[in-house]
Amino acid sequence: MRVLSVASEIAPLVKTGGLADVTGALPAALAGVGVHMRSLVPGYPAVMAALQEAEAVHAFDDLFGGPAVLLQGRGAGLDLLVIDAPHLYGRPGNPYLGPDGRDWPDNPERFAALSWVGAHVAAHGAGGWRPQVLHGHDWQAGFMTEYLPRMGGADVRTVLTIHNIAFTGSTDPGRLHSLRLDPARFYSEGYEFWGGISALKAGLMGADALTTVSPSYADELMTPEFGMGLDGVMRHRQAALTGILNGIDEQAWDPATDPAILSFTDPAGKAAAKAALQAELGLPQAEGPLCVIVSRMTHQKGLDLVLETLPALMAAGGQLAVLGSGDPGLEQAFRQAAADPHVAVRIGYDEAFSHRLIAGGDAILVPSRFEPCGLTQMYGLRYGTIPVVALTGGLADTVINASPAGLARGVATGIQFAPVTAVALRGALMRLATLYADRDTWSQMQANAMAHPVGWGQSARAYADLYARLTHPS
Ligand code: ADP
Ligand code: GLC
Repeated sequence: MRVLSVASEIAPLVKTGGLADVTGALPAALAGVGVHMRSLVPGYPAVMAALQEAEAVHAFDDLFGGPAVLLQGRGAGLDLLVIDAPHLYGRPGNPYLGPDGRDWPDNPERFAALSWVGAHVAAHGAGGWRPQVLHGHDWQAGFMTEYLPRMGGADVRTVLTIHNIAFTGSTDPGRLHSLRLDPARFYSEGYEFWGGISALKAGLMGADALTTVSPSYADELMTPEFGMGLDGVMRHRQAALTGILNGIDEQAWDPATDPAILSFTDPAGKAAAKAALQAELGLPQAEGPLCVIVSRMTHQKGLDLVLETLPALMAAGGQLAVLGSGDPGLEQAFRQAAADPHVAVRIGYDEAFSHRLIAGGDAILVPSRFEPCGLTQMYGLRYGTIPVVALTGGLADTVINASPAGLARGVATGIQFAPVTAVALRGALMRLATLYADRDTWSQMQANAMAHPVGWGQSARAYADLYARLTHPS
């Protein structure tokens, strides 16, 4: 089975969040189940620098405002197709934002070009290779289903994965021509969205199959609360949608071999990692649990609720260590919270430090208002760092709550709370402190967490089955 993945980020080459982790991990996971996946990515400077054995396989005279060359090659162990188009991607730093922290004004065209090239490869092939399935991710790949039929390629099936429906890739209808869209499809069955143009809507309407990154989020997407105005579209396409849970990279996140930490193989071994983290951060010893957070700082992640409940956590003898960046107001509020000697905050992005935090913490807090899947709670599980999570999306699907039933059966791996309010989070933190003080129950939960499967095995098979169903309908 040959599949072309189309995405705006791919780890370890370019990453702003979990999307990159997933697109970076899927090719290797799928290779194990007979799928050859190649990944089409924009030629950002970091991608161009990592590209090896590059070979030109096609030239575009005018790719949305300038010439471009499609290169095939390898980078970081990935089989890549890279769009070398300096007028679109020759900009260092964050793939979406300019130096002023705002979206590049031509983002609609930059990612329309990605979708265009994806459709081109699906229709005509690249270097003698043509996919049977075109698998796009998020709004940046949304227009592929608009372009593909115009280029041929009727035999290629399309899949769009929703990592976050909050990003709709919307723009004003005046861009219709610069986006090379067919004006006849500016209607509700096409890419029209509340009077504007939405790349995500185009893909949601046009793809043969839709997936999202957890079964619970698949259900939530049908509701006005989570559908972000696209819930009607999702209900319309319900039969085409499946939730396939993300996995994590079990090699990069293995407490036994992780080069960034003092390694350990069982819960007892975590003590040294915790002591090292406290020493690094200047945190004193404490009675209660050391809670950690590794997160983008946005409204989605509910971190404002952590600030509100901080006094209760401190009163319970707990500690907090945070790594993140994003919303300036949240960054500032966390900096101020660090005045407490039991709170440590680092604003920024730091891969190695994220490993030390997750290894050294007793618990990891993920109080998201919505969370399509979430990866850090799974890192927490693997490292015996108990997740305290909102009961939503992938957080609901990956954590077994320490409810009376879960505890009675000895299967709990974490703590879930609902609704996503400061009151409910405070309650969860109180439960955390109580469980932490009960050493037997706590060790059992840590062992359960570390034994919980968080790899790609089952989900890789689910994607392979989906591709097979699409290309060989029964
Ligand atoms: P999202 O994609 O919504 O941000 P996920 O939990 O799916 O949420 O993925 C976030 C990814 O980004 C994880 O791999 C996490 O470790 C990483 N990450 C987030 N913030 C930071 C940071 N400040 N430093 C290092 N890694 C981070
Ligand atoms: C998005 C979601 C996150 C998910 C990630 C990878 O960034 O916010 O929940 O884990 O995509 O699918």
